[in-house]
Amino acid sequence: MLTRLIPFHRPRSPARAGALQALYDTAATGWQDGISKLGFLAAYAELMQAVPPPASHPHVLDVGTGTGAFARAWVDVQGDPAELTLTDISPAMLDTARARLPDASTVVAPLGAAMDGLPPQDVVLCAHVIEHLDDPHASLSWLFDRLKAGGTLVLALSRPHWCTALVRWRWGNAAFKPDAARHMLATAGFIDITLHPFKSGPPSRVSHGYIARRP
Ligand SMILES: C[S@@+](CC[C@H](N)C(=O)[O-])C[C@H]1O[C@@H](n2cnc3c(N)ncnc32)[C@H](O)[C@@H]1O
Repeated sequence: MLTRLIPFHRPRSPARAGALQALYDTAATGWQDGISKLGFLAAYAELMQAVPPPASHPHVLDVGTGTGAFARAWVDVQGDPAELTLTDISPAMLDTARARLPDASTVVAPLGAAMDGLPPQDVVLCAHVIEHLDDPHASLSWLFDRLKAGGTLVLALSRPHWCTALVRWRWGNAAFKPDAARHMLATAGFIDITLHPFKSGPPSRVSHGYIARRP
C-alpha cells in the first residue's frame, strides 16, 4: 500500500518551514476553488453544525486560516462573533481570507508565536495546520493556552489513508489516527473530545473533525 511506502512522520526543518510558506503563498490564488471542488466547504459547515453554540459575543480565533474557509463556515453556521482573528504564515493566503471576512483582524504569525494583546478566546479554530508542524503536541498546547476556561477547540486533522499519502507527496503533512489525536488532545489538557468523521467525498477519506473543550 502507498500508505506503507510513505512514512507518516517525516522530519521537518526550518528550511522546510520557509519552503512551506512559499508553497502556500503560491497556492493562495487557486486554494479556495480547489477545496470547494473537493467538498471541504460542505464538510467544514457540517462540522460547525456539531459545535455547541458558545456564549453570546464570542471571541473566535482561526489559526492557519488559509483563505478563511474554516472561519467562514463558523460565521455562516454560528453567526458573526464579537471578534474574529485570523492568523497565517502566508501573507498571500491572509489577503484572500481578508477579502472573504472583511470584518476580521488578520495577523501574519506562526502558530506558537506570542500573541500579545489577544484576549483568551471562546473558540479556537484550526484546520489542517498542526500536521505541518514539527511538534504537534506543543502546537495543541499552544492552542489550549489561547482558550479561556470552558472554551472550545474545533480542529480538522489529516487522517491516514492512501488518498492522504498522495496529498502529502506535495504538502508533506503528517496524519493521525483518532486514538493518537485523542491522546494528543488529552495530553494538552482538553476534555470532552469528540471525533466527527466527515460524511462523504475526499474530506471523509483524508480528514477528521474534532471538537474539544478546555476545562
Ligand atoms: C492545509 S492549509 C489549511 C488552510 C485552512 N485552515 C483550510 O482548512 O482551508 C494550511 C495553512 O496553514 C498555514 N500554515 C502553515 N504553517 C503554519 C504555521 N506554522 N503557523 C500558522 N499557519 C501555518 C499555511 O500557510 C496554510 O494557509
